[in-house]
Amino acid sequence: MKPIPEIYSISSPLEADQYLIDGVLKTWKGKTVEVNSTISVTEEYKPTYIGSVPELEEAQAHEALDAALGAYDKGKGLWPTMRVRERIECMESFIQKMETKRDIVVKLIMWEIGKNLADAEKEFDRTVKYVYDTIEDYKQLDRNAAKFEKHEGVYAHIRRGPLGVVLCLGPYNYPLNETFALLIPALIMGNTTIFKPAKFGVLLITPLLEAFQESFPAGVVNIIFGRGRVLASPIMQTGKIDVLALIGNSKSANALIDQHPKSNRLRLVLGLEAKNPAIVLPDADLDLAVKECISGSLSFNGQRCTALKIIYVHEEIKDEFLQHFNKAVDNQNFGNPWDEGAFLTPLPEPDKPQYIQELIDDALEKGAKILNKKGGQHFENYIWPAVLYPVTKDMRVYQEEQFGPVIPVVSFSDIDEPIDDMADSNYGQQVSLFGTNVEKLSPLIDTFTNLVCRVNLNSSCQRGPDVYPFTGRKDSAKSTLSVHDALRSFSIRTFVASKDNPQNLEILEQLLEKKQSKFISTDYIL
Ligand code: G3H
Repeated sequence: MKPIPEIYSISSPLEADQYLIDGVLKTWKGKTVEVNSTISVTEEYKPTYIGSVPELEEAQAHEALDAALGAYDKGKGLWPTMRVRERIECMESFIQKMETKRDIVVKLIMWEIGKNLADAEKEFDRTVKYVYDTIEDYKQLDRNAAKFEKHEGVYAHIRRGPLGVVLCLGPYNYPLNETFALLIPALIMGNTTIFKPAKFGVLLITPLLEAFQESFPAGVVNIIFGRGRVLASPIMQTGKIDVLALIGNSKSANALIDQHPKSNRLRLVLGLEAKNPAIVLPDADLDLAVKECISGSLSFNGQRCTALKIIYVHEEIKDEFLQHFNKAVDNQNFGNPWDEGAFLTPLPEPDKPQYIQELIDDALEKGAKILNKKGGQHFENYIWPAVLYPVTKDMRVYQEEQFGPVIPVVSFSDIDEPIDDMADSNYGQQVSLFGTNVEKLSPLIDTFTNLVCRVNLNSSCQRGPDVYPFTGRKDSAKSTLSVHDALRSFSIRTFVASKDNPQNLEILEQLLEKKQSKFISTDYIL
């Protein structure tokens, strides 16, 4: 076992006992949830206890909801009626405080979810950038709205307004970035929020509690810790949530949605599972395709919704592609997140290696083989990625979103085979298309853009850059996220209309002159 560098070691467990409700950092004296890392610090393998968080109960969930409802105050609240400039000031104060917590948050990302150092740093920095970009985009949105229109004798001042109370639930694979990519736009548009971190990647939120508390008015951000069933379900059952913002899987999303009694009240902003295919055509640049399929299927051990989860390779180049690909899989480095060059890292879910093994066993039983030498080798907290071929539709690894290190491969001779599979699939997020012949690529681009929401030419699938739309069809998403689109997803167009007559004109002029309404304003923020 390599020694853990001093700066990344955890000297004593972080016993986090606070949660944030109604602007107060409360101390929890009840039951707590242990946070254990699958990274071992002992010669003989043993998970490492790194801290604990409160295990709140239903009463605290209702308290959080009441605080968020109170802060929204039927639309009268300080936050939803605040001037755009002031909301931006709160956000700027928050992000400046958050930036001071980079080291501890990055360290906890590594320990809690096993993400390697470079990617953990990237997650933090990308999130900070996302917040700054959101502020800029919001200013632009506001500038675009700083005017009156007139049609058919009716003046209109049209803006985007908040929706109400947002319940925000993020995933464990991007516990900071994806959660904040929901929370930040929801907040800046004037909504009030309840945020419950994911099961893994929860301690890393605790160093930010103070920044939230100090930067936003009471009740605008409420952060609770504990189990989804205990906290999120009762909140949904009240019917008082206006937006469910969730990145995770469709089963848990549907279970929560079903509990909300007023389906038309509930807006959904969901990023769900996917089974993004890579399709390697006979004329593909093989080295490039291998390189991109490695990063696409194995970055963060395949635990990305955008990961390549199945590879279709044309019969003509199958053997050559697989020969290079199998070697490349076995050449990757496994190590702890801070180890130099560690690409494959410990899996945060203790039962994940076993689940992946079950997928492998099922595939082997139904006729697939493991093509790479190391495929399926077990470590205490890992299972080496197995390249499975030939994979058929009756196999679990074909049907399930593996969200981990195993790579199913299917060969095809007719391009209609992968097209039919994509059309039949429950998912529709992205595809990676590898080829160089424009005549062949053109019709495929035209088809694939109708089946998924992003066609990646000769590159792996990914969400970023975050200014681009991130969405999906079918069970893969609802609503669109991007710096700009998220502001739209968490708001609604709302406006003041007035018929053109002398009395109304006088009122409008006075409203503009006196600047008492925060909604009616033609001021520009630069
Ligand atoms: O888990 C899904 C993430 O949105 C993927 O983001 O493509 O930047 O890794 P990424």
